Amino acid sequence: MLNLIVVKDYDEMSLVSANWLADEINKDPSLVLGLATGGTPEGLYANLIKMYKKGSLDFSSIKTFNLDEYVSLPRENESSYYTYMHNHLFDHVNLNPNNIHLMDGNVTNLTIERQRYDQLILDKGGIDIQLLGVGVNGHIGFNEPDSTLKIDVHVTRLAKETISANARYFNSITEVPKFSLTMGIGSILRAKKIILIADGEHKAKAIKDLFRSEVIDPLKPVTFLRLHPDVTVIIDEKAAKEIEL
Ligand code: GLP
Repeated sequence: MLNLIVVKDYDEMSLVSANWLADEINKDPSLVLGLATGGTPEGLYANLIKMYKKGSLDFSSIKTFNLDEYVSLPRENESSYYTYMHNHLFDHVNLNPNNIHLMDGNVTNLTIERQRYDQLILDKGGIDIQLLGVGVNGHIGFNEPDSTLKIDVHVTRLAKETISANARYFNSITEVPKFSLTMGIGSILRAKKIILIADGEHKAKAIKDLFRSEVIDPLKPVTFLRLHPDVTVIIDEKAAKEIEL
């Protein structure tokens, strides 16, 4: 089930989604949160930090699991999702470092790493709320359009469109990693609730696919969210452009 909220622009999306998440955290201060990276959630995270600093939000018992991470990009690289999360959230709120979980794309054995991460999510009781953005090509996490999609945490080859879209975070497009670790479609759908945020005209096609596709299509990974019972979609008017309201 999709619940749609259309707002004016990026700032309003960031505020409304942060308030939505803050309400959930206040209802259950020991939630297990699945977190996303990218340009889209930066404003949301900035608002959560403001709330924390004002004293209206407490992360001390929250547990987090990140959605994805590049393979073979050192953690200290400023474009790693490890560094992104520290810069945009972790270093500014009272999360217990033991409660922060990220995949490690630099281990020698990625199979063991995938299994470790799947198991850890299970051990913590599963993800309560998964935050998602969406790629221009309809990917969620790094589940790229393909003839089949993987269920659990796995290694994936980034699509050309994704490499181009993420090149802005690197000195040149050749520096963008070609592979990443990502939660699978099953890992995402197992979350009890999902919140997806998107802004801008470049996301309108993916949002149209999410709402209007009549089939579940692995070439449009975002369509799999139609199988989930509780997805809140908060998007700006530009991203909503291709869905007639
Ligand atoms: C990235 C991430 C996704 C993110 C998406 C959109 O590559 N792997 O988790 O949701 O692509 O990114 P952005 O928010 O920068 O448009």
